[in-house]
Amino acid sequence: MGSAGLIWPGAEKLFAAEAQRRRIPYVLATPGNASIEEIAAIAPDVFWFQLYRFPDNDHAITFDLVRRADEAGAHVLVPTVDSAGKSKRPRDIKNGCRVPFPINPWTTYQVLTSPAWTLQLLRNGMPITANLVPYAEKASQNSTAEVMQVRSGGSHTWEELKRLRDRWKRPFVVKGILHPQDAERAVALGADGIWVSNHGGRHFDGAPASVDVLPAIVSAVGSRTTVMIDSGIRGGLDVVRALALGAKFCFTGRCFAYGLGALGPAGAPHVADLFLDEIRTELLHVGACSVAEAASIKVRHPNAWRMDNY
Ligand SMILES: Cc1cc2nc3c(=O)[nH]c(=O)nc-3n(C[C@H](O)[C@H](O)[C@H](O)COP(=O)(O)O)c2cc1C
Repeated sequence: MGSAGLIWPGAEKLFAAEAQRRRIPYVLATPGNASIEEIAAIAPDVFWFQLYRFPDNDHAITFDLVRRADEAGAHVLVPTVDSAGKSKRPRDIKNGCRVPFPINPWTTYQVLTSPAWTLQLLRNGMPITANLVPYAEKASQNSTAEVMQVRSGGSHTWEELKRLRDRWKRPFVVKGILHPQDAERAVALGADGIWVSNHGGRHFDGAPASVDVLPAIVSAVGSRTTVMIDSGIRGGLDVVRALALGAKFCFTGRCFAYGLGALGPAGAPHVADLFLDEIRTELLHVGACSVAEAASIKVRHPNAWRMDNY
């Protein structure tokens, strides 16, 4: 998640530290509020990097981010391909939720009535899009947000993905796939993993639920690549269902965001504990002794998109 530092200042570092402690992947977003280098130092064993597209100057910023991720030792490069352009989010418009963060009477009131958050903000400083500091005029929120808004955009094309694949020597996972044909094409150009995702439903309201397209994607490429999923994973039962439908791994964004918003530094450990506890409980109820066994559970999923004739 980009801009997680708005939810709780220092969010990315807390997520990364907890992921390192648990040995689960943490994926730093290009527009995150901590830099590649900072996260690499906190989570050297589990750190992945999510990549957006900066088309200017033959993708100079994009490739520089890839170079930095490589030098910092990111284990996996994750280009996101579901962000074709700006999306309209009526609630964000209504709430004035945007970066740079608007300072007005309402947000000032919220800051003053949230002393724990404000103290954390004072400790960490104003959240900035830290990865973009080298490409911005100043290391400020406005300046780095402007680089993101003005210089990034569009989805990586197939040709660009191929260039990235050829440049990046470690595992390469394409995030935001929702159709078996796209999964096939990503695998053909050398992707090591497919991350089925509709971006948590944040971009396109008409997108299918990722769990509904999962079975067709698993049947197309599951024997040749690692299929992972996110968007709507809210607890252990969702994880077990996704595993039973052929996913090898689940991610979640908002669960950790909500934990952080409610509990601050205690949020990420609490959410990880909830997931572990629920996964164990649900496995018990279906008679599976391990996560691997969950793959053989038969799930009735009548609403899944069949895509027989894709
Ligand atoms: C606040 C927020 C910021 C996000 N920023 C990014 C981003 O910068 N790059 C990206 O690939 N996905 C981003 N996503 C999408 C997440 O990576 C993930 O696909 C989504 O949150 C999964 O759905 P869930 O929140 O239902 O678990 C963001 C999601 C949220 C909620």
